[in-house]
Amino acid sequence: MHVLVTGGAGYIGSHTVLLLLEEGHTVSVLDNFSNSSPESLLRVQKLTDRAVEVYEADLLDRDELHGIVMRSRPDAVIHFAGLKAVGESVSEPLLYYRNNVVGTLNLLDAMSAAGCKKLVFSSSATVYGDSVELPLLETTVRSATNPYGRTKLHIEEMLEELGASNPQWSIANLRYFNPVGAHESGQIGEDPQGVPNNLMPFVAQVAIGKREKVNIFGDDYATADGTGVRDYIHVMDLAAGHLAALNYLSTHKGVNAWNLGTGHGTSVLEVIQAFARVSKRDVPYKVVERRPGDVAESYAHPEKAMLDLGWKAERGLEQMVEDMWRWQEQNPDGYRQNV
Ligand code: NAD
Ligand code: UFG
Repeated sequence: MHVLVTGGAGYIGSHTVLLLLEEGHTVSVLDNFSNSSPESLLRVQKLTDRAVEVYEADLLDRDELHGIVMRSRPDAVIHFAGLKAVGESVSEPLLYYRNNVVGTLNLLDAMSAAGCKKLVFSSSATVYGDSVELPLLETTVRSATNPYGRTKLHIEEMLEELGASNPQWSIANLRYFNPVGAHESGQIGEDPQGVPNNLMPFVAQVAIGKREKVNIFGDDYATADGTGVRDYIHVMDLAAGHLAALNYLSTHKGVNAWNLGTGHGTSVLEVIQAFARVSKRDVPYKVVERRPGDVAESYAHPEKAMLDLGWKAERGLEQMVEDMWRWQEQNPDGYRQNV
């Protein structure tokens, strides 16, 4: 299958491109490199000994986007491209609506024009808002607590309405829980710019000595050890979920949502302990105030993906941390040392 991957140079995109190539698919990537580096795709091509067609382009440039989709005529699109920093979305809401919602709208127009009606969309567990119903099921009521989350919710709704208007579309809304880890080679991984917003990359930078200590955002939640609990999922398991969804779309029409999580919750303290154990380094931490907007616990009910897609997460916390640590040790400055 020929797959166009938007945002394919990014963290989850690059790991998925690698797996697509390994499975024999033909891959084109469209990325504006606003939060990534072409180096990730160079490494993916080296690791797989396969070539990727790379378009440096912006989803907001309608004409260029149409030209690329018409020219490359993909069988399916996996749509990762988007902005994802929750805090930034609060201070720059229009940037997020424009980039994520308008960008997706432009992509759908271009796909329609090219007659491509198979789409895998990067949604997020953020569409469950601050739901207290656990584990989170695909049928759990959706809501948003910030502009980033609302862009995902609006896009899911837009895709549902598109599917209802034209039954030829096959669409998968994949709701990721907390993606972490790296490819086992240590050659590709997450490369956050500036201070990481997310726990795992922050802990990795403390372990390597780039940052002094981890700030634990609250230890008075109603969880086993009082710290926040999340469903961390290995990025290679997540990548495999996209291939399973593509496979499903080749034989099913309509719009569906699937949780991609492990179903298992891990606390902030457990993450820090696992990192200290694997890296054999000190990981100092300090408990500070809760971060506004955080929920105590979030974890998936992952059965629907197993039933429909035959997919489930295979890797545990130890492997997530080991792979992340390998990437961190081999690339202390991410991709920047090579560009
Ligand atoms: P990332 O920032 O590493 O990758 C996104 C890629 O999209 C980057 O390469 C960026 O340059 C590109 N991009 C952004 N706007 C673009 C535009 N207008 N035109 C072309 N390219 C553009 O992020 P990621 O962690 O790989 O996330 C991928 C997707 O998954 C995003 O849509 C994100 O919202 C979603 N998601 C991520 C997480 C997470 O914790 N990482 C969780 C849930 C959902
Ligand atoms: N945390 C800390 N210290 C930090 C960073 C995080 O204690 O420096 C805690 C948080 O309070 C939370 C847990 O670690 O309890 C995980 O926080 P992350 O920021 O890593 O992840 P979130 O669950 O808050 O959010 C992530 C993405 C969202 C996405 C969501 C669900 O950032 O975009 O997962 O997929 F919507």
